[in-house]
Amino acid sequence: MKKRLLQKPPMDRNLALECVRVTEAAALSAARWVGKGDNDAADQAAVNAMRTTLNSLHIRGRVVIGEGERDEAPMLYIGEEVGDGGGPQVDIAVDPLEGTTITAQGGVNALAVIGIANKGEFLNAPDTYMEKIAVGPDAKGAIDLTKSPTENLKNIAKAKGVAIENLTVIILERDRHKELIAEVRGSGARIRLIQDGDISAALATCFPDRGVDVLMGTGGAPEGVLAAAALRCVGGDIQGRLVFRNEKEKERAQEMGIREFQKIYRIHELAGGDVMFAATGVTNGDFLQGVRFFPGGAETHSMVMRSQTGTVRYLKATHNFDVKRPTF
Ligand code: FBP
Repeated sequence: MKKRLLQKPPMDRNLALECVRVTEAAALSAARWVGKGDNDAADQAAVNAMRTTLNSLHIRGRVVIGEGERDEAPMLYIGEEVGDGGGPQVDIAVDPLEGTTITAQGGVNALAVIGIANKGEFLNAPDTYMEKIAVGPDAKGAIDLTKSPTENLKNIAKAKGVAIENLTVIILERDRHKELIAEVRGSGARIRLIQDGDISAALATCFPDRGVDVLMGTGGAPEGVLAAAALRCVGGDIQGRLVFRNEKEKERAQEMGIREFQKIYRIHELAGGDVMFAATGVTNGDFLQGVRFFPGGAETHSMVMRSQTGTVRYLKATHNFDVKRPTF
């Protein structure tokens, strides 16, 4: 008798569309706080709405990337069970508001974001930093975090068939990136500095019309996992290495199962198996328009994608608050 390999069943594709309701709810709530200078209120609004909507999904979900540790975050904390308790067992990665400062200041590229994978397929990344390098499909396999930024840029340029001077590297504008920025400038490549939002920056590398070829630098580790989920769906590539700020973070990482502190995680180790990714614009950005309120309702713009098919869907929704009261 032939032995059958036990394979995880593909995730229900309709779940991807359900995910959009989750990010829409978070974006609608956070968007009330655009430009109000209150990061915490904007974040809290997104978290509340996302959690309420997540709990209406027919899943047995467990948050693996969330708002932080249980003692710090009362909602969407790492390990929290979400969903209605039926349906498939899935791991959930969320960033209810990617870009709290962006939102508070009324800037660009704030998103509500979710990723879903089968149980055990997301890296249980601690709430620390991650050094990242991400590229689009045309440079897949050309990145290597053990190599210098210059070497990586040479390899990426070669893979894309362009001169290094034609590459644009997107980097978070932070003091810790001074050396990186100097090296990239020295290599001849161009730079786009951003204030926040490295999930959307990583994703931008996969859409040629966004004019960005590579994401480099250190940002949040949870954002690294979410970026990997997004890039899996559109054929991009990312590598990440955890960067710890102190011993406490290392201890916490150990408790979460991280054994090798220097390990370089490849895309499938960050987000493996079938993954789904959805995002809704809170403020206008590279991919999505932000929430636009009008009397009695609002319009949202979202994207949803699945690694199994690589289909990217854009959804424009009109929400009628007279019929369905929003969660904020
Ligand atoms: P928040 O929405 O949590 O503020 O994250 C925004 C962000 O810019 C991320 O995109 C990025 O990964 C991280 O912050 C970088 O962290 P820091 O601001 O500490 O450099």
